Amino acid sequence: MIQENLEESVAYIRSRSQLKPRIGIVLGSGLGAFVDEMDVETTLPYDEIPGFIAPSVEGHGGRLLLGHIKGVPIACLQGRVHYYEGHSMTAVVHPTRTIAMLGIEILMLTNSAGGLDPQMQPGDFMILDDHINLMGDNPLKGPNIAQLGPRFPDMSEAYDRKLNDKMADLLAKKSIRHSRGIYCAVSGPTYETPAEVRYLQMIGGRAVGMSTVPETIAANHLGLRVCALSCITNPAAGISKHKLSHEEVTQTAKLVSDKFCEFLKDFLVSI
Ligand code: HPA
Repeated sequence: MIQENLEESVAYIRSRSQLKPRIGIVLGSGLGAFVDEMDVETTLPYDEIPGFIAPSVEGHGGRLLLGHIKGVPIACLQGRVHYYEGHSMTAVVHPTRTIAMLGIEILMLTNSAGGLDPQMQPGDFMILDDHINLMGDNPLKGPNIAQLGPRFPDMSEAYDRKLNDKMADLLAKKSIRHSRGIYCAVSGPTYETPAEVRYLQMIGGRAVGMSTVPETIAANHLGLRVCALSCITNPAAGISKHKLSHEEVTQTAKLVSDKFCEFLKDFLVSI
C-alpha cells in the first residue's frame, strides 16, 4: 500500500516534470521564502499530488517545487504536515519518500525550534548533530518495506557529519550566530511545560520541536545523506518570561529569513 501510494505520487510528478533532483529540501514554518531563490520550473500544490496531504497550519505553505539553484537540480517541499495534525507517521514522511524516489541523494531539513540553552537568542541557528525521538511513534513501525530499506536501520550518524561540518564552516564565514547540538522531537501540539523543558535539558537536548525526526528516520532508512538546521525562534517554556505563541515562532523565523535564504543558497551549491 505504502509502495503503491509512492509510485502513484511519483508517476503524477513525473507526468508534470522530468527534472531529476539531486538535493531535496524541506522548508519549515516561516522559512518558505527560500523558494524565491530558486529558478522554479514546476510548482505542484500538495492537494494536486495523489497521496499528498495539504498542511492545515497557518504559515506552512504546501507545495512541491522543482527547479534549480545556480544549476543544481532541487526538489523543494515548502511546508510539511505534522504528526500533531493527526496524520499517521506514514503520511508525515510520504513527501520525503516521494522526493527520494525522484532521485535525491541529499536531504536537507529545516525547522523552527525552541532553545533549551538559556544562552541561545531568538534567530540563532542550530545544526542538528543528533536527535532524541520523544514523539512516541516511528515512521518505520509496521511491516518493513524492503524496497525502501532494511528492517533495523543504523542511526549512528543520522545527520551526515561532513555536511554538518560544511554548514558550520559556512555559517561561521557568514558570521551567522549558530551552534550544534541534539534536537528533541516531541509530538505537540502543546508547547512544553517548564518541567518538561528541564527534563529535555537534563537528557542533553539543545533544541525542542515537533517535526524533522520522522523525515530523518525515513531518509536514513532510504540511505540518503541527511542534514538539518533549526531556527531557534524562542527560548523554551520556563526559560522565557512570557507565554509562547505560534505567532512568535513564525515572526522570528520570518525576521531571519533573508539570512537563512542566503546561507541556504550558498550551502546547497557547495555540496
Ligand atoms: N517547542 C516546541 N516546538 C517549537 C518550539 C518550542 O518551544 N518553538 C518552535 N517550535
